[in-house]
Amino acid sequence: MEKIKTEKYDSIILSSSDEKNVNKNFLKSFKESPLPDDEILANLGLFLSSKSLARILFFYKIYKKILHSHGIVIEFGVRWGQTLSVLSALRGIFEPFNRHRKILGFDTFEGFKGMSAEDGERSNCREGSYSVSRNYEEYLSGIMTFQEQLNPMSHIRRFELIKGDAAVTVPQYLEKHPETIISMAVFDFDIYKPTKAALSAIKPYLAKGSILVFDELCDDIFPGETTAFKEVFALRDFKIKRFPFAARISYLEL
Ligand SMILES: C[S@@+](CC[C@H](N)C(=O)[O-])C[C@H]1O[C@@H](n2cnc3c(N)ncnc32)[C@H](O)[C@@H]1O
Repeated sequence: MEKIKTEKYDSIILSSSDEKNVNKNFLKSFKESPLPDDEILANLGLFLSSKSLARILFFYKIYKKILHSHGIVIEFGVRWGQTLSVLSALRGIFEPFNRHRKILGFDTFEGFKGMSAEDGERSNCREGSYSVSRNYEEYLSGIMTFQEQLNPMSHIRRFELIKGDAAVTVPQYLEKHPETIISMAVFDFDIYKPTKAALSAIKPYLAKGSILVFDELCDDIFPGETTAFKEVFALRDFKIKRFPFAARISYLEL
């Protein structure tokens, strides 16, 4: 699969130059790793920085919170799909026989779509930022299938990748699936329009105890996510919580 260079289009980078240098060398060591092929996947922790590990730990802790609530899990804004894949692995660990716990991922798989004035000017992003390689959704579908095949009940497919502008695809999906109850929705579109559209569309499908996770609440580089949230829900009705070890991700329970 072709590789794309995304850096020049993507958001401003907050790392110090020292950190960037270490990351560059870390990546070099990863690419030049002497590990034999049959030991690579089992040793990926070797390359996890505290920042990357914190994100995974966040999802470990948040997943444990939904174990006693019924419904599906959705990620809005999938990109390369790491979070989706981690969520699938967590389902395999905690509730491998829960056939109702579908995991859905919505993305254009072509980058940002629908930037507007509400997104401000600080992010350096534009339409198409955070795009992925062509037909990447097919590759990710393969990864998600492997995740399911390594766990029980793999004959029942329990994930779906929905490609397209979420402002269109989310209402469309829910109209087709009136049985939907959402146990957890993860918001990571970064920008206002699709976030507002998805929040508005899912509102009737949330139950008491449903969890909403946000990657950019209170973020001055991507203000659109907060604006969208405030327009669909009243801020004062919720405690916006976080885990101290994960810098940017917050969540609330209905
Ligand atoms: C920051 S990335 C998501 C990162 C991902 N959650 C992760 O954990 O690695 C934001 C994603 O939102 C998607 N996106 C932005 N606007 C969209 C829209 N209108 N409809 C669907 N997806 C959109 C982009 O294509 C991009 O993949």
